[in-house]
Amino acid sequence: MRRVVDDFRGVMRRFPTGVTIVTTVYDERPKGFTASAFTSVSADPPMVLVCVNRQARSHPLISQAGKFCVNVLQLEQQRLAQDFALHGREDPFTAFTHRTVKTGAPVLDGALAFFDCELADEHTAGTHTIFIGRVLACAGTSGAPLGYFDGAYRDFGCRIA
Ligand SMILES: Cc1cc2nc3c(=O)[nH]c(=O)nc-3n(C[C@H](O)[C@H](O)[C@H](O)COP(=O)(O)O)c2cc1C
Repeated sequence: MRRVVDDFRGVMRRFPTGVTIVTTVYDERPKGFTASAFTSVSADPPMVLVCVNRQARSHPLISQAGKFCVNVLQLEQQRLAQDFALHGREDPFTAFTHRTVKTGAPVLDGALAFFDCELADEHTAGTHTIFIGRVLACAGTSGAPLGYFDGAYRDFGCRIA
């Protein structure tokens, strides 16, 4: 009999998302990885969440550092998404300029938006941990978002429906 677990990945591909780079800094070393499991949690206080695989090298670093920054990518930043998704390679921080704002977690230049967070809570869920961040600083700019749908990076066009 077919189990839900066999269907799950394929069905989740039907859900379109934006693409982010979640960064942190631990022991003065920046770390980041590509993530799409990001959402707003609360507006006042401002809180967001990101779901991180416990196998990711970033996972213990976020937990120990107690801070992270979610960088929402613009359409032309697909290269960052690809480079920061490579497990086992050195992070490409030298190739992409960044700055710090409040927590010290890297804010990537050219991002469409960023949410600089102190870690407020974490919950184990299956293979992942849900990291909840209290937003200490955030900003956005106008531009086109990088999208992800059906296993590929996309231009969502962003016409008003
Ligand atoms: C479009 C896209 C979205 C991703 N979203 C997530 C995510 O939300 N959470 C996660 O843990 N990994 C996600 N990944 C996988 C990580 O980017 C990948 O495992 C990365 O190598 C982890 O890096 P690290 O082990 O250096 O921390 C995503 C990958 C891609 C390409």
